[in-house]
Amino acid sequence: MSVQIIVGAQWGDEGKGKIVDLMSEQAEVVARYQGGANAGHTIVINGKKYVLHLIPSGILHDDVQCVIGNGVVIDPIALLHEIKTLEDNGISIKGRLFISHRAHLIMPYHKMLDVAREKSSGKAIGTTGRGIGPAYIDKASRVGIRIVDLLDRTILEEKLRTNLAEKNVLLRRMYDIDGLDVEKIVAEYVEFDNLIDEYITDTTVLLHNAIKEGKNVLLEGAQGALLDMDHGTYPFVTSSNPTSGGACTGLGVPPTAVDTVIGVVKAYCTRVGNGPFPTELNDAVGEELRRVGHEFGATTGRPRRCGWLDIPALNYSVMVNGITDFALTKLDVLNDFAEIKLAIGYSVHGKRTKFFPADVQTLEKVEVEYETLPGWQCSLAGIREYDALPQNARAYIERIEELTGARVAMVSTSPDREDTIIRN
Ligand code: IMP
Repeated sequence: MSVQIIVGAQWGDEGKGKIVDLMSEQAEVVARYQGGANAGHTIVINGKKYVLHLIPSGILHDDVQCVIGNGVVIDPIALLHEIKTLEDNGISIKGRLFISHRAHLIMPYHKMLDVAREKSSGKAIGTTGRGIGPAYIDKASRVGIRIVDLLDRTILEEKLRTNLAEKNVLLRRMYDIDGLDVEKIVAEYVEFDNLIDEYITDTTVLLHNAIKEGKNVLLEGAQGALLDMDHGTYPFVTSSNPTSGGACTGLGVPPTAVDTVIGVVKAYCTRVGNGPFPTELNDAVGEELRRVGHEFGATTGRPRRCGWLDIPALNYSVMVNGITDFALTKLDVLNDFAEIKLAIGYSVHGKRTKFFPADVQTLEKVEVEYETLPGWQCSLAGIREYDALPQNARAYIERIEELTGARVAMVSTSPDREDTIIRN
């Protein structure tokens, strides 16, 4: 048995969906611990592509139980859409999907405020507009509406009235948007409760029982460590904790129950939205990474910013998450590059920085020191053994291991589930 956390080690979009899907073959429970419908896992069902935002991709394996934990903020529309998509495609979720009754709900005003704030801000974060920030603000303000509140219409109505008394003023006065009606929202959310009632449970107890029974449990984060509200490039971050600690608070699983933390790392870097990105390439090489890697957001379709792999940022991520093993994804995107660069250090005013800068002003102006490695310039398609990789690809991987102290335990060489090298 094992309890493993899967974290994104960069700015999200590292390919966690494929790794979780692959690891789900050995898992009995997969639990998502934070974020909401801002995340997107692209999956292929019967040759057709779908994007799951909330339900862990483990749902594609018939005998895996999937949990949406207390740390997740749930958008009813997105969730119902996903349930329908899965059911329409013959994937049965009955008895396999469990939603925490402690999870907070995304309300219509969260999405409206998210979009309005971004539009009116002189310094937009570049959010996904899914209401994530405003929902977590309400959670911290202790006015959030949780799944458990759906069970009692009177409580739901009372909480909604309190919220709308404030939100409608904000919407009207600050953003010139029409206010919302309590009854309409109550009716919609009561209907939502009827549809998801059978999935609601105390997921903390469910997970503790699974761990006690010796089951293999995967704890899945969304986004990435550098978008973490505490440890990321604040304020250009998401509003939750994608780092491994978030798995404990977002699921009620104690740190002592966790065996391993696996960091999913893309062979280069991408970022969607605004914020510092020291290795960003605003040139033809960056364009090429975007084109070959199909780097467009799964949730918003926005082009992702692309750049070389950033070891100082990765080392920070290894430290904060306690990563011992990496799953290295999209190595094949680098196939045709004659040279591949690795950022190995940052300097400010000619002086090497010892720490990953805490402020965006410094991070934006660091001078990046690169090491250049020769590319392999051949296809990696179909390679499933580490030793079958071209020498230069192995040298790239081994240099990453040397510079980070973490082991590359998995290497993904194409989007296909099968095209993955697993090293013991
Ligand atoms: P929010 O999470 O929608 O509030 O957006 C905050 C920041 O996190 C923005 O820069 C988003 O682009 C980024 N972000 C949120 N979710 C994801 C994701 O799943 N992948 C990559 N970036 C994300």
